[in-house]
Amino acid sequence: MTSTSPHPMYATPNHDEGARERYVREMMVHVQKDLLPGKRKIYDGMVKPSLTKKLGRTPKDRHEIRKAMEEVEYNLYWNALRRTTQEMMFDSIGESVERQLPDLLQRAQTMTKPNGRNRRSTLTLDPELPIPRYHTAVDIHCKPGGYHTELCADDIFAGAEYDRSYNLFAMGGSGPLNDDMGRSLARFTRERFPSLKPKRILEMGCTVGHSTLPYCDAFPQAEVYGIDVAAPCLRYAHARAEGLGYAVHWSQQNAEHTNFPDGHFDLIVSHILFHETSNTALRQIMKECHRLLGKGGAMVHFDAPQYEDMADPYDHTLGDWSTHYNAEPFWGTLHDQNLPAIMEKAGFAKESIYKAWTPSVFLEERPEFAKVARLGKFYVFGAQK
Ligand SMILES: C[S@@+](CC[C@H](N)C(=O)[O-])C[C@H]1O[C@@H](n2cnc3c(N)ncnc32)[C@H](O)[C@@H]1O
Repeated sequence: MTSTSPHPMYATPNHDEGARERYVREMMVHVQKDLLPGKRKIYDGMVKPSLTKKLGRTPKDRHEIRKAMEEVEYNLYWNALRRTTQEMMFDSIGESVERQLPDLLQRAQTMTKPNGRNRRSTLTLDPELPIPRYHTAVDIHCKPGGYHTELCADDIFAGAEYDRSYNLFAMGGSGPLNDDMGRSLARFTRERFPSLKPKRILEMGCTVGHSTLPYCDAFPQAEVYGIDVAAPCLRYAHARAEGLGYAVHWSQQNAEHTNFPDGHFDLIVSHILFHETSNTALRQIMKECHRLLGKGGAMVHFDAPQYEDMADPYDHTLGDWSTHYNAEPFWGTLHDQNLPAIMEKAGFAKESIYKAWTPSVFLEERPEFAKVARLGKFYVFGAQK
């Protein structure tokens, strides 16, 4: 967990805030690493045998297993603790970021103001852009106000808070710059498409640019673009990138329908975007990727694995926990989708479509974090035009 500042825009906690954050982190580690395996033991030892007897067959899907597990007290306590730690994370970090907001706004202004050197990044906001209902209908994963809510003029709160809370949620296992997803997928892209020399790269659903910046390092000759629907996150992304010395073109756009011309990009990537959109949006975004990619261009997406790539139906209940208890309504249904069929319908040739697992770069460098990290490998899917 990062309580020192990894970059000039970071909302560094003071002593008491840091102590509170460390407490929440220890609770999260305890819930996730010590208590979670107990659910599995109860499922294997009690719930599965009795359900099998009752049904006359082994449980077939997450719905049957979830319903049966809802009768188990240990599981209900675990649900409550997991949900509580999620809320505590946002409560503790939100307060700390709000305390620093005037200073952070000032820093963002200084960081992004033209100052004689060439401006590196650009930011284009669209105050008229409708925020999709899948974001306004819930406070996604209990993040108060979601990614898009603005507290004041030129607000960056949602972005500054995401930077801290993602670090805590990942329990430090994504690196101090929270960039493991981007670094790991950028390496995957280079290995999978060795002849691809992208001139323009787009990250869809970039939030604060954690995963965007690694593409600047991996493909230094390319222009890198990040889009998101959330203005406070994009403003923060802009200032954060400037503070770290990166050039990215940020714009507020819906990935379902962007204003880029046909064939504008050679590489389109996303990291944990789709489970936070609707199933309709997933299909629309795939079509938009097809429109935006030039011939030979590739797309590389990371999100929840399809159930057919997870052998044990008990494992299906784990991600799906967020559907029912963590305000992430499309998590379970994303697992259900037939991604190759959706990509093919969007226009991609069947033989170019792939699904793969790729390991975490950060955990290879810092194996000691494997004990706490939520993700040791990433489920990647995409196609080449
Ligand atoms: C979990 S975050 C993505 C994290 C980020 N890619 C990273 O690697 O750190 C999901 C983001 O997708 C954005 N988003 C959701 N639906 C979108 C859409 N239709 N178009 C653009 N951005 C969208 C949200 O505003 C949010 O910032």
